[in-house]
Amino acid sequence: MGHMRFAVLTSGGDAPGMNAALRGVVREASSLGHVVLGVQRGYYGLLEEHLLHLGPRDVSNILQRGGTFLRTSRCPEFATPEGVKKAAETLRANAVDALIAIGGNGTLTGCMRLAEEWKGQVLGLPGTIDNDLYGTDETIGYDTAVTTALDAIDKIRDTAEAHERHFLVEVMGRHAGFIALQAALCGGAEEVLVPEDPVDIAAISERLQKGKRAGKTSSILVVAEGAYPGGAAAVAEELHKLTGNDYRVSVLGHMQRGGSPTARDRLLSTRLGAFAVRSAIAGETGQMAGEAGGRLVLVPFADAVGKKKDLDRDLLALARRLAL
Ligand code: F6P
Repeated sequence: MGHMRFAVLTSGGDAPGMNAALRGVVREASSLGHVVLGVQRGYYGLLEEHLLHLGPRDVSNILQRGGTFLRTSRCPEFATPEGVKKAAETLRANAVDALIAIGGNGTLTGCMRLAEEWKGQVLGLPGTIDNDLYGTDETIGYDTAVTTALDAIDKIRDTAEAHERHFLVEVMGRHAGFIALQAALCGGAEEVLVPEDPVDIAAISERLQKGKRAGKTSSILVVAEGAYPGGAAAVAEELHKLTGNDYRVSVLGHMQRGGSPTARDRLLSTRLGAFAVRSAIAGETGQMAGEAGGRLVLVPFADAVGKKKDLDRDLLALARRLAL
């Protein structure tokens, strides 16, 4: 095959490692003599035709940076039939052969819609701190977000222990408890509350009292933002009513989305970026590139966004057993 024209974009919530993935895409395609166009601000860039040529030098010195140099957005217009048509027109007008979109559930759902309207090849990369895409063991940004959350938990542990206080640490995850579970397990948290499991405040309160009788003088409860209506603040209020204890609340929020990607995230992003390019050259389309059991895999979009990736129940049980 002759030279291909690639377009690449990042969309939805940014994730550390998106820049490393962009570099992987641009450099791999360039090394094989293909052309890459960067689309700015996610799907908005397709609606408004904000595209620029990207060569190897344009992705210098970004591997280690959080955020995404192409910028990103959440783009409701793209979800309309007119929006998808306009995006397809832009791709045709720029003679694009293959689009690589980096993002989470919403982004890959967008890919599926686009694939119905446009004849070119569409590939996705899993870019979200939430780790909630089926078919890949981890998503780009997840390891960095966990590392950031864990760093905060370790710091809170110092002051919790010094003052003999109880803390609730709210981490990101509206629909998924992956960040919460891993940060809780690695931080030795007393409790972990996740959206995948019903939250029983009375049972938590009982376990905390039991911990106190067993000699615990402080505690950390990790709460995924979507685990309980009202988040960690509401849990603190309920627990206060039951126990009379004060619960300090720390909401980590968007700091979990930024920062320099960990080595693990850089490795994943770089491998997946290059793999998506090679997959497109091999004629693949309609799939997300991922990594499962150490191997690079392609997962149909319908599975990646449609099937539910469950929490590792053994890990959840282990975190709870060890918090005695
Ligand atoms: O999907 C990534 C994520 O960071 C979620 O964990 C969080 O619930 C959401 O995005 C926040 O979105 P926004 O930055 O648009 O408020």
